Amino acid sequence: MPPADFQRYLRAKRTVDDRSLDRRLLDALTTGLADLATDRDGPVRVLEVGAGVGTMIERLLAWDRLPQGPVEYTAVDVDPANTAALPDRLRDWTADRPVTATEQAGGIVLDGEDRRVSVTVGTADAADFVAGADREWDLLIGMAFLDIVGLDRLPLLLSALAPGGYWYFPITFDGGTRFGPDHPADDAVERQYHRHMDAKPGGDSRAGQHVLDRLHDRDGVTVTGVAGSDWAVYPQGDGYPADEGYFLRYVLGTIETALGERDHGEVLDDATLADWLDTRRQQVADAELVYLTHQLDLLGRAPSPPARD
Ligand SMILES: C[S@@+](CC[C@H](N)C(=O)[O-])C[C@H]1O[C@@H](n2cnc3c(N)ncnc32)[C@H](O)[C@@H]1O
Repeated sequence: MPPADFQRYLRAKRTVDDRSLDRRLLDALTTGLADLATDRDGPVRVLEVGAGVGTMIERLLAWDRLPQGPVEYTAVDVDPANTAALPDRLRDWTADRPVTATEQAGGIVLDGEDRRVSVTVGTADAADFVAGADREWDLLIGMAFLDIVGLDRLPLLLSALAPGGYWYFPITFDGGTRFGPDHPADDAVERQYHRHMDAKPGGDSRAGQHVLDRLHDRDGVTVTGVAGSDWAVYPQGDGYPADEGYFLRYVLGTIETALGERDHGEVLDDATLADWLDTRRQQVADAELVYLTHQLDLLGRAPSPPARD
C-alpha cells in the first residue's frame, strides 16, 4: 500500500520547497510588504489559502520575510486534519527559537523580537471563505494550490485583496513530471498522470501557464514576476535529506492511485505499470531515484485605487 500520511508529506515537502522557491520574487515581496507596513498604522493582513500544516508561515518567519510590527495571518484549508495540526506544528517549531507561542481560540500568536504574528486558522473551501468574509487582505498566498482548485476561482480569490495588495502563487505545477534513471514507461506514466490531473474537478496540469494567461487578461492586475521553481529531489550522500525519502514514496503512491483510477483514456498495461512502480520504489530504497517537476512562482498586485488629483 502507498504511504498515506498527508500531513507528514506536507512536512516532508518543506525542505524540497525551500530549495525551489525563487528568491528574487521573495525579495520583491519582502520589500513590498515592508513598504506597505511603513505606510500604514494597522497590521499587515495576510490570507493563505490551502495553507496545509503551516510550513509557509514558518518559512516566512524563519527567513525574515514578514514585515516588522503586527501581522494578522489567516490560514485557511479545506482539510480539518491540516488545520487541526497547524497550531501544534507552529508551537513545536517555536520551541528552540526566540519566538513565544501563545495558543488562543481559533489560532496561535507568535511573538518574536520585533514582530507579532497573530495566526487565525479556518477550515473551509477557500472560495467560500473569501465570499463570506466581510474584509480584505494585503497579501494573498496560495502555494501548490492553483493546480488543484480550478482557475475559475481565481477572480473570487483575488477579490479578497485590498487595492494594490499582493498575490503570491508559488510552486504552481506547470506540466513536467520526470524521474531518473530512465525507464521505458516514463513518458506513458507522465502523460497518463497529467491526464488524470486534468480530468479531476479543478485540476490543471498546466496551471502555471494558465494562471499567467488569465492574469494578463485581467484589467488592472499587475504581474510583477514569474520564475521557475522546479522541484529537484536527489540523493545526497547515502540517502535523501530530511524526510525526502518519504516525500518520494508519497509521490509514487499518488501516481499509483491516479493511474489505478483508469478513467482517463490511454491505459498502461498492469505489468508495465507494476514494473515501473517496483523499480521506482526500489530506487528510493537504494537512494538512486531522482525526481524533477516543473513549476512556476507567480507574484503580482491587485489593481491600485485611482490616483487623486
Ligand atoms: C498540495 S497541498 C499544499 C499545501 C501547502 N500550501 C503547502 O505547500 O505545503 C494543497 C492544499 O490545499 C488544500 N485544499 C484543496 N482544495 C482546497 C479548497 N478548495 N479550499 C481550501 N483548501 C484546499 C488541501 O487540503 C491541501 O492542504
